[in-house]
Amino acid sequence: MKKILLVGGGGREHAIAHSIVTGSPNAEILFCQDCAIPRLLAGARLSLGTPLEVAQREAVDLVIVGPEAPLVAGLVDELETAGLTVFGPPQAAARLEGSKSFAKSFMGQYGVRTAACEVFEEGKAAAALQYLEQLDEADFPIVLKADGLAAGKGVLICEQRETALQGIRSLMEDRIFEGAGATVVIEEYLQGFEASVLAFCDGNSIRPMPGAKDHKKIFEGERGENTGGMGCVAPHPMFREGSVLWEDFEQNILQTTLQGIRDRGWDFCGIIFFGLIIQDEQCYLLEYNMRFGDPEAQTVLPLLDTPLLDIVQSCLMGRLAEQEIRWKDQSSCTVVAAAEHYPRSPVAGDLIEGLQVLPQQAGPQQAAPEKMETGPSSRLYLAGTCHKEGGFYTAGGRVLAWNATAPDLEQARFEAYRKLEAHPFRAMQYRRDIGGPIVELKK
Ligand code: GLY
Repeated sequence: MKKILLVGGGGREHAIAHSIVTGSPNAEILFCQDCAIPRLLAGARLSLGTPLEVAQREAVDLVIVGPEAPLVAGLVDELETAGLTVFGPPQAAARLEGSKSFAKSFMGQYGVRTAACEVFEEGKAAAALQYLEQLDEADFPIVLKADGLAAGKGVLICEQRETALQGIRSLMEDRIFEGAGATVVIEEYLQGFEASVLAFCDGNSIRPMPGAKDHKKIFEGERGENTGGMGCVAPHPMFREGSVLWEDFEQNILQTTLQGIRDRGWDFCGIIFFGLIIQDEQCYLLEYNMRFGDPEAQTVLPLLDTPLLDIVQSCLMGRLAEQEIRWKDQSSCTVVAAAEHYPRSPVAGDLIEGLQVLPQQAGPQQAAPEKMETGPSSRLYLAGTCHKEGGFYTAGGRVLAWNATAPDLEQARFEAYRKLEAHPFRAMQYRRDIGGPIVELKK
């Protein structure tokens, strides 16, 4: 049996854990941070402590690191130094997510197609303001990117010079994202549609997963503030493997990135997330994330038809190129339910209706394979959720997500919404237009 420590405890980690136990029923997943996931997922349990403490105490076979913060902080290096086997990029490579200016210089060096930019380092706010002052009116909108991690909020699209100047002051002088805005990237604004592609990488080869379409805005019609993601569909309806566009992505972004990773000699084993924009039939890389996306993981992994653990093991052995990776010929839709006042100041403590706890004695053996070959099937992923007094309660901004897979997107969407609306909580916020026109189940 494989004992796996999964660092993190949100929707993405629930999806990773669910995918592992579904494909490998003998695997056992440990969570070292307090979360409600083991209450719903057979084959998972809590073992609290720091990742290093838990990994050593439990003698785990493998550690998988989900979120960006510990990756950027160097957790993979720390665990590997202690002799553990880890799936995740080393700190040097995680910088591709941790520093936008580093990522842009990497893209420039290896010919990864991206928007033109200028970088203004800490203490150079005056130069950034001067740069904006001398641009033509036609150069706007323009994009400001805070250099460090800012929970998906560090990108400002400025329609006019005045808002861009104010943006620089907020980022570099007022430090609204603290350390994240000390250095700022000012980038050309590209217009088109966005796509997310996750890829497995073992340092020598890279294998992309089906493209996904994330919905980042809080309100229907892509309006309002940015969130961590309110829903997602896969495969991306406008960006599919085998198309001319996909070939463009493989040639100008995927392979050039791999070349850079090889050239740097990083001992790389993990996931790369390509945040793309497609303008004038060409793919541009907006950003790298060095981990599974959220809610992309919840959307793409249910389509995987090969045990996730087999692929992870192939990556660890440097044999990803030889690994068979099958995908279901289905569509997948994930709808996120968020708490009242998310994304500003989410309210916690509301009961989620109709969720049943798994019997705790259900061991790893009971994580039964899903039966989903013909009609729609669905699964629930917990995120900002806690379990107390016999029920599940809201405890964060994005509370949970329902995913459904089905032979076509409309069926998957319908099923995801049907499940979501059957398990409401007070003031639940969700978008009814994930993956298409508004779905109206209730009158
Ligand atoms: N969905 C984008 C992210 O995971 O950051």
